[in-house]
Amino acid sequence: MKRTIKNESLQAKYDELNRKQEESLLGGGEKRITQQHVKGKLTARERIQLLLDEGSFQEMGQFVMHRCKDFGLDKEYYLGDGVVTGYGTIGGRLVYVFSQDFTVFGGSLSETHAEKIVKIMDMAMKNGAPVIGLNDSGGARIQEGVMSLGGYADIFYRNVMASGVIPQLSAFMGPCAGGAVYSPAMTDFIFMVENTSFMFVTGPNVVKTVTHEEVTSEELGGASTHSTKSGVTHFACANEVECLNQIKQLFSYVPQNCEEEPPRLPYTPGQELRPGLNTIVPDHPNHPYDIRDVIHGTVDERSFFEVHRNFAENIVVGFARIAGRSIGIVANQPASLAGVLDIDASVKGARFVRFCDCFNIPLLVFEDVPGFLPGTDQEWRGIITNGAKLLYAFSEATVPRVTVITRKAYGGAYDVMNSKHIGADLNYAWPTAEIAVMGAQGAAEIIFRKEIAEAADPAGKLKEKVDEYTRKFANPYRAAHRGYIDEVIYPDQTREKLIRAFEMLENKVARLPRKKHGNIPL
Ligand code: HXC
Repeated sequence: MKRTIKNESLQAKYDELNRKQEESLLGGGEKRITQQHVKGKLTARERIQLLLDEGSFQEMGQFVMHRCKDFGLDKEYYLGDGVVTGYGTIGGRLVYVFSQDFTVFGGSLSETHAEKIVKIMDMAMKNGAPVIGLNDSGGARIQEGVMSLGGYADIFYRNVMASGVIPQLSAFMGPCAGGAVYSPAMTDFIFMVENTSFMFVTGPNVVKTVTHEEVTSEELGGASTHSTKSGVTHFACANEVECLNQIKQLFSYVPQNCEEEPPRLPYTPGQELRPGLNTIVPDHPNHPYDIRDVIHGTVDERSFFEVHRNFAENIVVGFARIAGRSIGIVANQPASLAGVLDIDASVKGARFVRFCDCFNIPLLVFEDVPGFLPGTDQEWRGIITNGAKLLYAFSEATVPRVTVITRKAYGGAYDVMNSKHIGADLNYAWPTAEIAVMGAQGAAEIIFRKEIAEAADPAGKLKEKVDEYTRKFANPYRAAHRGYIDEVIYPDQTREKLIRAFEMLENKVARLPRKKHGNIPL
């Protein structure tokens, strides 16, 4: 808003401020917009415009400027100091947002840049609404030294205090290094844009100096690397628009804070039998099938939103809706490594379970698991500690928890995958379920080794014993006799049963013993 001021020098100063603000509102003026667009990137403000409901964005701190006067910073000032902060709505729901501007000192974080982010994080905590960070930053502003490090630490601390209280989402839309990756690492979900975003603690130049490795930014920390190898990012998006749309989609499944229920869509009950589910599990117990077919066949149409799709593909996790209700799904994937649990799958599953439990999202497990992955690689890298994370996460979850065993539930993995023994509310099994310590062949070879070795026809004896073990355990009924399975259901009934189950569990109250906090095996 322009004003006329009597004092001439003041007027000149005010005009200059207005001019700078206009530039800043445009993302730093024509030149800076072009710089971003040439790199195939949107400006910080364009990103916010696409993310939030039209006209809802309210900016805070647009006149903030850095205070540092060292290394030439006394000659270069930009209103807003490289980050646009404020609040607005997505689908009418309040969110706080910050969007870094790479065209201002590489989006680097100064003392004042940090203060702006801290301000909206504090407001988000007070008002119980999510924070979304659009990151495009070279990390701590090098010219500012410890002031920028302190700024990061202020943000890290708030990330931790906000964890489990409000959802925190991070998107990467440019090259991000140092502190710019650590704060997002403590948020709930990370999105990266393919080809234009990178995440690393130290970039290729430092890597080359220290380890003599030659590596490109893309190989070291591109979206493909982090979505498949490290698992640091949950989503790799083709471009920025897709990225912002995916954030909005995820947001639709989660509540505003830990005291609220997730949003619920209206649902009119209809024909809930799903005959297509009857033919998914193959006749042969070792043949693969895609567990996503079971998920899609069970949940509301087109409601499954997969998380971490390209990492640890032997477990599938994601959000969905059942009769309009938001749920989190954890499912073994027989189409990848036979659905075995390894280190990556356990950590992926555990983190997702804990997110859902923080934010009152009921859990549904589809189980078809032959056990934990054997071998030196897994043992030496700590499958014991890492597998225990999944066990721990399920055990401490107090949200409604339901399991459907579609086929194998072998060994410790039976216990871990949301069994009733560790607090699940309901366990269903399809008639194809096999609930046993291990597969019949392995079991017979161990417990009847002597008998088989001494038999006149060892192969025939083995087959006889395998058949005996199969008859006894390769079915759901032993477990059902004990009440470990609440009901053996036909696949086509699954959806109907789950709708009723989650309805019945709607008002579940479960409390953990009083403690400061547990000690999950990290
Ligand atoms: C000040 C910075 C900066 C920084 C980039 N710039 N990073 N200015 N502080 N951290 C400036 C550059 O000088 C340049 O200014 C402009 O931003 C664009 O940078 P380029 O290097 O030209 O861009 P690009 O080639 O795309 O490379 C991007 C980059 C690289 C990979 C992010 O700039 C980079 O490696 N920056 C340093 C990263 C880093 O080491 N950060 C400190 C980490 S320590 P001009 O004027 O030339 O346009 C940290 C501590 C936190 O963060 C502690 C956590 C636990």
